[in-house]
Amino acid sequence: MTDTAMMKAAVFHRYGPPESLLLREVPVPRPAPGEILVRVRATTVNRTDTATLRAHPFFARAMTGLLRPKMQTLGMDFAGIVDGLGDGVTAFQPGDRVFGLSPDTFGAHAEYLCLPADGAIARIPGDLGFDAAVVGEGAWYASSTTALLSEGQRCLIYGASGAIGTAAVQLAKSRGVEVTAVVGTRHLDLAKRLGADRIINYEDEGFTEIGETFDLVFDAVGKTSWFTCRKLLNQNGIFTATDLGPFWSNILLGMWFGITGSRRVRVPYPEDAPGFVRHLADLMAEGRFRGVFDRSYPLEDIVEAFRYVETGQKTGIVVIKFQ
Ligand SMILES: NC(=O)c1ccc[n+]([C@@H]2O[C@H](COP(=O)([O-])OP(=O)(O)OC[C@H]3O[C@@H](n4cnc5c(N)ncnc54)[C@H](OP(=O)(O)O)[C@@H]3O)[C@@H](O)[C@H]2O)c1
Repeated sequence: MTDTAMMKAAVFHRYGPPESLLLREVPVPRPAPGEILVRVRATTVNRTDTATLRAHPFFARAMTGLLRPKMQTLGMDFAGIVDGLGDGVTAFQPGDRVFGLSPDTFGAHAEYLCLPADGAIARIPGDLGFDAAVVGEGAWYASSTTALLSEGQRCLIYGASGAIGTAAVQLAKSRGVEVTAVVGTRHLDLAKRLGADRIINYEDEGFTEIGETFDLVFDAVGKTSWFTCRKLLNQNGIFTATDLGPFWSNILLGMWFGITGSRRVRVPYPEDAPGFVRHLADLMAEGRFRGVFDRSYPLEDIVEAFRYVETGQKTGIVVIKFQ
């Protein structure tokens, strides 16, 4: 590959709506020592991408750039083929089929991506397709809640049909947890296929009126609150959420319960992406985790993909497939 090799990438130079994304030819990155170059075959558009594009919530700019985005290309999930190695890399070979996460620098909405070889990368199990291997983002966020659960405990997952919720059901089941999933009518069969022990339709049942309590209630779509769910919690039960909550209540309550020492409300942030991706590869190899996919788009239609994800109506994961 020459210094002038070019690739297609979706770039953005200012925060804003999906139309802020521009399809451009940019130089193919070169792997630094300790990095690998991946030829991306599939990526996703997820709620982390859409929120980062819009710099929502505002304080996220402290990490992504105050006035303008520090990164030019979004895309946290990737699956592809190792195309080049930086000096000192021995863990991968050109031609390896890999998947993983780029949680710090993103960059997967492009034909090539460089990552640290010791980062959040694993080989794709078996003959799983690239577009079936881009499962990391929702699962990683879900893992920050499911890691709080132990075998034999009971949890309720509210909104078990998004990328995070579908992953949360499977990760909780893999830990031996009894799962009650709350979904809308069109996702009842999905929740059953994912292995939920009990399924509640939020459209025709008051999910808080079921007369049971749980060790953990997880709002996986940012549509309920501690105030609504607290009667579902047992004495030491925890409420976790993916979102800030009405009037930032999840953050404020999280701080309050932190001060009191009970930590009953949390907005957990996931950790150890490399370890998690390796764990996910094992679960997929054992047939204990599979991605739930909504639809796919070519890179050329990425603006459409962002618009769709922003509707909040996707089922599981939205994929960008490279030709
Ligand atoms: N903390 C972070 O950094 C972070 C990162 C990523 C995402 N998030 C947040 O995580 C949440 C989930 O993201 P996601 O990508 O998994 O999914 P998503 O795209 O937000 O989930 C959409 C799903 O939620 C269901 N839904 C919509 N309204 C609902 C309601 N009132 N009750 C229950 N389910 C409802 C939809 O199906 P139906 O309408 O058919 O029910 C759809 O399947 C988002 O709110 C996002 O803001 C946070």
